[in-house]
Amino acid sequence: VTRSDAVIGLGGGATTDLAGFLAATMLRGISYLSIPTTVLGMADAAVGGKTGINLPEGKNLVGAFYEPRGVLCDLDLLDTLPDKEIRSGLGEILKAGFIADPHILDLAEQDPSKLLDTGSDEFADALTRAIGIKAEVVSADLRENSTTGVGREALNYGHTLGHAIEKAEGYTWPHGYAVSVGMVFAAEVACRLGLIGPDVVARHRTVLESVGLPVSYAGAPWETIRATMSVDKKARGSHLRLVLLDGIGRVRVVKDVDEEILRRSFMAVGGAQ
Ligand SMILES: NC(=O)c1ccc[n+]([C@@H]2O[C@H](COP(=O)([O-])OP(=O)(O)OC[C@H]3O[C@@H](n4cnc5c(N)ncnc54)[C@H](O)[C@@H]3O)[C@@H](O)[C@H]2O)c1
Ligand SMILES: [Zn+2]
Repeated sequence: VTRSDAVIGLGGGATTDLAGFLAATMLRGISYLSIPTTVLGMADAAVGGKTGINLPEGKNLVGAFYEPRGVLCDLDLLDTLPDKEIRSGLGEILKAGFIADPHILDLAEQDPSKLLDTGSDEFADALTRAIGIKAEVVSADLRENSTTGVGREALNYGHTLGHAIEKAEGYTWPHGYAVSVGMVFAAEVACRLGLIGPDVVARHRTVLESVGLPVSYAGAPWETIRATMSVDKKARGSHLRLVLLDGIGRVRVVKDVDEEILRRSFMAVGGAQ
C-alpha cells in the first residue's frame, strides 16, 4: 500500500468503521471510500467522520475522526438485508424525524410498509432526509465539543438508555431496537418534566411500533441500567445529560434529571424494578 492507494469499505457499519480506521492510520492516512450495505450504515455510520473498533473493555474505544473521500449508498445493496437489520436502521432514520424532521414521521404514519420497503420512493426520501440531518449536525459540530447550542449531542437522542440496554443484553439487541426503546424513555422523561404532552409520547410509540420496532424493555433491573447510564461515554464527568425534546424537531439537553422521574420513566417503558 502506498500513499496513492485507497481503502474501500464495503459492508455494514462494523466493516466501514474498521476500514475507515485502517485508512486513517495506514501511512498516517490514505484515501478512504465508504460503500455501506446496511440501512444503519447508510443513515448513520457512513456520515460524520467517526471510525472506530471495539476493545474487550468496551465499544469504540480505539478510533479516529476521519472523513471519507466519498460515500456511495446503492439502495440495491439492501435487497439481501434481513428485515431485522432494516428495522434497526429505521430506528436511526425515525430518530432524525423526531429531532429534526417531522416529515419523516409523516411518512411512517401515512404508510409504514413503504418505509420497510427499501425499493420505495418513501424509503429513499426518508433515508436521504436522515443523512442530510446527520450531515448538517456534524458539519456544524465535527468533534463533538460544541459550546453553544446542542450540537452533535442531539444525535444521541434515545441513546443513553439505548446503550445501557445494548450492554445489559450483551450486544445481542440490534442498535436501532435499543435506540427505539430509548426514545420512548426520553419522551416519558420529557413528559414528566412538562416539556412535551402525552400526545407526543404516544406519537413516539405509534410511529416506532408501526415499523415493528420495540417500545418496551423488560430485561435488566433499573439499578443495573441506571449504573450503566452514568458511565456512558457521553455522560461527560459524573453528570447524566439526557437529550430530550420540547416538541418534535426541538432538542434540548437536560442535566441531572430527578432520580424518581428517571425510575418512573423506566417503569413506563416496561422496565423491571
Ligand atoms: N461511525 C459511526 O458514526 C457509527 C454510527 C453508527 C453505528 N456505527 C457502528 O456500526 C456498527 C453497526 O452497523 P450495522 O447495523 O450496519 O451492523 P453490522 O455491520 O454488524 O451489519 C449487520 C449484519 O448485516 C450483515 N449485512 C451487511 N450488509 C448486508 C447486506 N447488504 N445483505 C445481507 N446482510 C448484510 C452483516 O454481515 C451483519 O451480520 C456498529 O459496530 C456500530 O458501532 C458506527
Ligand atoms: Zn445510533
